[in-house]
Amino acid sequence: MNASAYQIRPAIEHLEDSQIVDVWKMGFSIPDVVGLWVGEGDLPTTKFVCDAAAEALAGGQTYYTYKRGLPELRHALIDYHRDLYGIELTEDRIAVTSGGMNAMMLIVQMLIGAGDNMVCVSPVWPNIYRTVEIMGGEARQVPMQGRGDGWHLDMDRLFGACDAKTRAIYVASPGNPTGWVMPEEQRRALLDFCRARGIALLADEVYNRLVYNQRVAPSFLEIATPDDPVFVVNSFSKTWAMTGWRVGWMVMPRSVVPAIERLIEFNTSGGQPFLQAACVKAVREGEDWVKWMVARCKSGRDLVLERLAGMNRVNVIPADASFYLMLQVADMGSALDFCKRLVVEGRVGLAPGTAFGAGGEGYLRLCYAQSNERLSEAMDRFEGFLRRT
Ligand SMILES: Cc1ncc(COP(=O)(O)O)c(C=O)c1O
Repeated sequence: MNASAYQIRPAIEHLEDSQIVDVWKMGFSIPDVVGLWVGEGDLPTTKFVCDAAAEALAGGQTYYTYKRGLPELRHALIDYHRDLYGIELTEDRIAVTSGGMNAMMLIVQMLIGAGDNMVCVSPVWPNIYRTVEIMGGEARQVPMQGRGDGWHLDMDRLFGACDAKTRAIYVASPGNPTGWVMPEEQRRALLDFCRARGIALLADEVYNRLVYNQRVAPSFLEIATPDDPVFVVNSFSKTWAMTGWRVGWMVMPRSVVPAIERLIEFNTSGGQPFLQAACVKAVREGEDWVKWMVARCKSGRDLVLERLAGMNRVNVIPADASFYLMLQVADMGSALDFCKRLVVEGRVGLAPGTAFGAGGEGYLRLCYAQSNERLSEAMDRFEGFLRRT
């Protein structure tokens, strides 16, 4: 069969490539770049978690398993949520997924059909827009504004973007790339709006532990009942430095459990039991490690903020969560072109804010989940590059 004998659905053929990946790929052919562009740190997964996976693998945990994940892991997550928020989940509402990404895709597959829309608070990790587009829906972006004291969301604008075809509202708090944490009053207003309108609330909380002024960021799970239309997505990727493992989870309303279970069967048919066995260890025994990692990120954030404050063309929007900062450079021109030049001429990797949708224009995203040595080197190079250009 030749290529013209079959067709790619237009929704798939026209999916936009990620601009983050565009710049990141340039680094493959340029040695010695300090990459602060992608959303992960420089730490490998801690040893006791890796050992647990190897042990489970050697012990024969290699078969198909429960669609919603090992019961031991779901019970460990129930204890984890109780410890963090003082809430009592039931195991049926939890599904272990192939990363937060797969959880998002499953929820969108369940909710969005052709002609429907999802309203997304932006700028945000762009993959959520693409999940909606894959389903033939429209991802509507409601941009926040960056100011000297952080990022701000206009709730009237958010509610005004919803119409009869709105099936879901997506909010990432803490946010990527902004580090924004949705204020309490706004969280309550959003939940009330979703209840009243029968709109699902997709709360992306994968950065809930990456906060520097409290132990954990507030969760929608603290204010929602099991029957509210609230889906909370989380992941092992960021909190336990396990990006490559591809394990995450969702907490869903009781009524949709059979539908999500069905979708898991036809997407991944369930996850890998030997990885999930190690995730139990991470959840049950990883707290000291998480605290150490968060303190390390905070130190990285403080270092970067201090260095950027000394560069007179640079303006940074402050943030107390996630592991990113958004910054502006005076007279930078196109952010994508600037990032490409910075890689080649400055040997530093940043992501263009335009990659994250509306509200990201004019910004650069920097991920500071790195050692202080690497961050200092990156800041030296960045400062030198700014002086030369
Ligand atoms: C806001 C947000 N949500 C979800 C994810 C998905 O993470 P993963 O699929 O690795 O769990 C990311 C990853 O960068 C993210 O930034």
